[in-house]
Amino acid sequence: MSVPTLPETAPFSPAQRAWLNGFFAGLVSLQGSAGGDRIAEANQPTQEEETFPWHDPAMAIAERLELAEGKPIERKMMAAMAQLDCGACGYVCQTYSEAIARGEEKNLTLCTPGGKETSAKLKEFVQLGIKVVLPAGGAKPQSAPSGKHDRKNPFAARLVGQNRLNKPESDKDTRHVMLDLKGSTLSYKPGDALGVWAENCPDLVQELLELLHASGAEEVLTPDEQLTSLREALLRDYTITQPTEDLFKLLGQPEAENLAVVDLLRRHGDQPIDPAPFVRAVSPLQPRLYSISSSLRAHPNQVHLTVGVVRYKSGAGTLCNGTASTYFADRLRPGQKVRVFVHSSAKFALPPSGDTPMIMVGPGTGIAPFRSFLSERKAAGDKGKNWLFFGDQKKDRDFLYEEEIESMRAAGMLHNLSTAFSRDQEKKVYVQHRMIENGKEIFEWLEQGAHFYVCGDAKRMATDVDNALKQIVAEQGGMSAEEAAAYVAKLAKENRYQRDVY
Ligand SMILES: Cc1cc2nc3c(=O)[nH]c(=O)nc-3n(C[C@H](O)[C@H](O)[C@H](O)COP(=O)(O)OP(=O)(O)OC[C@H]3O[C@@H](n4cnc5c(N)ncnc54)[C@H](O)[C@@H]3O)c2cc1C
Ligand SMILES: NC(=O)c1ccc[n+]([C@@H]2O[C@H](COP(=O)([O-])OP(=O)(O)OC[C@H]3O[C@@H](n4cnc5c(N)ncnc54)[C@H](OP(=O)(O)O)[C@@H]3O)[C@@H](O)[C@H]2O)c1
Repeated sequence: MSVPTLPETAPFSPAQRAWLNGFFAGLVSLQGSAGGDRIAEANQPTQEEETFPWHDPAMAIAERLELAEGKPIERKMMAAMAQLDCGACGYVCQTYSEAIARGEEKNLTLCTPGGKETSAKLKEFVQLGIKVVLPAGGAKPQSAPSGKHDRKNPFAARLVGQNRLNKPESDKDTRHVMLDLKGSTLSYKPGDALGVWAENCPDLVQELLELLHASGAEEVLTPDEQLTSLREALLRDYTITQPTEDLFKLLGQPEAENLAVVDLLRRHGDQPIDPAPFVRAVSPLQPRLYSISSSLRAHPNQVHLTVGVVRYKSGAGTLCNGTASTYFADRLRPGQKVRVFVHSSAKFALPPSGDTPMIMVGPGTGIAPFRSFLSERKAAGDKGKNWLFFGDQKKDRDFLYEEEIESMRAAGMLHNLSTAFSRDQEKKVYVQHRMIENGKEIFEWLEQGAHFYVCGDAKRMATDVDNALKQIVAEQGGMSAEEAAAYVAKLAKENRYQRDVY
């Protein structure tokens, strides 16, 4: 895949153009990790030629859509999305738009960060162009039956165990989750993600049933139009946390940010709501993606995840729990099974040679793929130098996998370890500050052919790290801002700068 660049005619100064070109280059690895089947093959450029210049969360929707002008409908739909590849929809931006275009995904309101602007645009595109890619008659394409475990045919993996990685006094709750893959056709490589079909919280289901004045035995349809009970549907098939525009409409309430489904039902009071229109108005439950934090070489038949538990209060003061993260933390017990599939990443992967130096920047849950990378290199006996940048709130309570990391350092396989504990001192210290402090050595490693990886928060951290990398290249390489941006763009083009951010 080539690195997208702005046309010379684009209304930017040379410095802006160089910066943006560098930024696009940094995003290339995201597109590579999007995966997914290709649709309307005949209309598509080849994998090598295709670029996604709109795949930039910092760009306004109008600008993104302009860049997708003249592209096939699924690419225009992709441009309408928030470009975060956050997984909130159960896909990444590219695969969500392709699923809609194939007619497999009917829900156009799943891009939470894109909000109403995105869903309105998607509706427009679907009305305009869905026939372009649907088979004659608009029939829903069926996936070929196979014994292969995938998104549609997930494997029921047994929970081996899970433990909290933060100390009890921490403000954070990050879980190490171990699943057994024995008996599955699943295989993965370091850098891949695991798709997880979680179940909703039964207590929340019970509360919703009471608010709906339903027993749970009422018959309703699943998103795949199979008959099931209302209780099962609320448990396994539908999103019962974040409300949709349709639910506000159904309940005759004005739309408001940051309310939970349960808040709307409580406000609705005693007026009856039929189960069938209720399930039609909420969105189908989607799988969540997690970067795999183990290596099959080190743990045959297992897959490990590093899950940040999501808990927050809604605008109405209701305590809300992230569906999948609290499924692991609170509900799934050892021996019980969860449906999973592997979401392989084409571009986020170890260097082809075990001798290549690696610089890995992974604060918080961003550590996940690097635990996998390091375990794999250790198990393979690779000799390449490894440098990890890790950060979190406090050293004494939030140093995830501290023992493993320290033992790899002691054994000499983790050559450099740079930590940034943001809340151990008055002034925040982040991974990018440690990078700047170590700029000379980072540049030397890059000049020796090192691969540079970033994983974790997309919104702030990844941009700050990208800027720090360019600053280092400019300062240490004696380059102008434009030359440094071009140097970093070249790294990305050569697959030596890869990001897995969400
Ligand atoms: C490729 C990829 C890799 C990923 N890897 C990891 C990983 O290794 N580890 C990891 O922990 N996560 C990872 N994620 C994120 C993960 O997929 C889930 O999005 C995350 O765990 C939350 O899912 P959930 O079901 O627990 O929460 P959900 O039920 O999806 O709830 C999250 C939603 O709650 C709302 N919300 C959250 N906080 C607040 C708040 N403070 N105020 C108001 N609303 C709020 C937002 O709408 C948010 O989208 C990855 C995502 C992708 C795309
Ligand atoms: N899209 C999703 O569905 C989803 C779900 C889960 C997580 N996430 C994202 O994934 C991230 C990882 O979560 P996490 O809880 O493991 O860790 P995190 O919130 O990213 O925190 C890890 C460390 O990074 C620091 N940090 C904050 N801003 C930073 C910046 N601009 N640059 C560098 N470091 C910065 C934090 O410091 P301080 O906190 O002290 O500032 C903390 O020390 C979250 O930030 C969240 O945005 C997204």
